Amino acid sequence: MKNCILGLLFSVIALPSLAGNPTWLEGKTEQRHQITVYRSASCGCCKGWIDHLKDHNFEVTDVTVDDVNEFKLKFNVPPKGASCHTAIVDGVAIEGHVPAQDIKRLLANRGDIRLLTVPAMPSGTPGMDTPGAPKDDFRVYSISKDDRVDVYRTYSNY
Ligand code: CU
Ligand code: CU
Repeated sequence: MKNCILGLLFSVIALPSLAGNPTWLEGKTEQRHQITVYRSASCGCCKGWIDHLKDHNFEVTDVTVDDVNEFKLKFNVPPKGASCHTAIVDGVAIEGHVPAQDIKRLLANRGDIRLLTVPAMPSGTPGMDTPGAPKDDFRVYSISKDDRVDVYRTYSNY
């Protein structure tokens, strides 16, 4: 009887601390990706997106530049797919407010993808999510090395 009570006490104390803390696990086991972001100094939503990346375990090099378009040309971002900032992680370009989880999914299995983009700046995307802002549906697009465009992920009513 005494053992049962002790066992019960142990499970009550130990289980939530083991099961309820996935961020602890994430920080310990996941590779930390280094990402470089090119943005204009005045871009507030870019800073919001950088904070989102840091919250998701990315190591961010934040580079402010005079002309962001220079980097869109350099990384071959099509004008239709352009947004505010351009980033590069492990040789893959990331354009605009792409959620961190999609970047991680890509890095785990990149195939022939050279770029992910959320074109323009939909409201509700990471960095465009100030409290009270509407959460618009949006899509993450991938572009392959031979310039095939695919829908990588659709966010709706999230
Ligand atoms: Cu932006
Ligand atoms: Cu930006």
